[in-house]
Amino acid sequence: RYPDLTPTPPMGWNNWSYYMCDVNEKVILDNARALVRTGLAAKGYDTVTVDDCWTLKERGRNGELVPDPAKFPHGMAYIGRELHRMGLKYGIYGDAGTLTCEKYPGSLGHFQQDADLFASWKVDYLKFDGCNVPTAAGRTKEETYHDVYGQMSRALRATGRPIAFSVSAPAYFQYEGDALWHRVIGWSGEVGNLWREGRDIAVEKHTPAAKWSSIRYNFDYNAQLAALQRPGRWNDPDFLLAGDSGLTETEIHSQMALWAVMAAPLISSTDLTHLSPAALRVLGNKEIIAVDQDPLGVQGKLVRHDEDAAVLSKPLRGGDRAVALFNSGDTPRTVSTTATAAGLPAAASYRVRDLTTGRTTRTTGPLTATTLAPHATVLYRVSAE
Ligand code: GLA
Ligand code: GLA
Repeated sequence: RYPDLTPTPPMGWNNWSYYMCDVNEKVILDNARALVRTGLAAKGYDTVTVDDCWTLKERGRNGELVPDPAKFPHGMAYIGRELHRMGLKYGIYGDAGTLTCEKYPGSLGHFQQDADLFASWKVDYLKFDGCNVPTAAGRTKEETYHDVYGQMSRALRATGRPIAFSVSAPAYFQYEGDALWHRVIGWSGEVGNLWREGRDIAVEKHTPAAKWSSIRYNFDYNAQLAALQRPGRWNDPDFLLAGDSGLTETEIHSQMALWAVMAAPLISSTDLTHLSPAALRVLGNKEIIAVDQDPLGVQGKLVRHDEDAAVLSKPLRGGDRAVALFNSGDTPRTVSTTATAAGLPAAASYRVRDLTTGRTTRTTGPLTATTLAPHATVLYRVSAE
């Protein structure tokens, strides 16, 4: 079993959803500085990951990955030094197959060589994708993925450097039947610390409607995978889109609240150098971050999941529950549950704190969000009194 390197869900920033292959030293370091300047780094967003397209299209003379000198003129060890100097952690992207998703060299046949190179650059986090993994002769697709991810997992351990390992294998089994998909998620939690289990969240060039529907889509399947999560081993429904143009404050807040109640990694992927005050407010909400990062490390479970509404409840250290009430439909509606249904112990009254407004109220049991706007989520912290 891979070491427990992520006791709480990883937090940070990744360039992919906003910049895609237009990644370079300036993009990475400008966004890293913005993470520090905005105060988000101090709130836990500490891992900056360089996604796909950072290498040349061919390996070097000794079979090594070669950073694209036009994009990274000072090389990749330099990025690590700069991030570490800012108090941040260094994440990088690789792929278990012959080629990455954007057709740069993959690590197949080079697992130890690449792991050693990443360790020599003082990388702290590896996002390891699963595009272009050819099924091995006499093996099933699942056996092949298990084998390649297992090899990289061992290669990372052999470096002696603690490198958080983000596994993408389950994303390549999402539509192959739930039994197989769930099994792949199960062993991903043995070889790594977190796993991308499904579809990519929308990227910047998509319309706001497509971005919202991708948040909805990833929420819908991730919410059903709570039983496959363990403390320190995380389902990853992909990036937070707060800051991307087009989504409303209600929508980016909803994503943040839902990801937090699901104990999802909080990985922003936007242009942080032009973050709106609304996006900064949403990403920086300390009480919502605390729900995500709660030391019990448990993904909230669905209490209700209808066509147009969902209710989730997450146990927190000390006995409180975080309860999310989500209007996923397109018309205003009231969404409600009860303290008992949300898993709280029987009590004469409960304290209910709205983690967005900071307003505290009391109830004898009903937990209600009255006339929620379309796409809105209310996140309560509920304590028995
Ligand atoms: C896959 C991943 C994305 C991103 C791209 C890069 O689609 O799911 O998050 O890393 O590859 O090519
Ligand atoms: C299996 C393992 C658990 C955990 C989960 C993650 O069930 O036994 O320890 O890693 O997978 O899904």
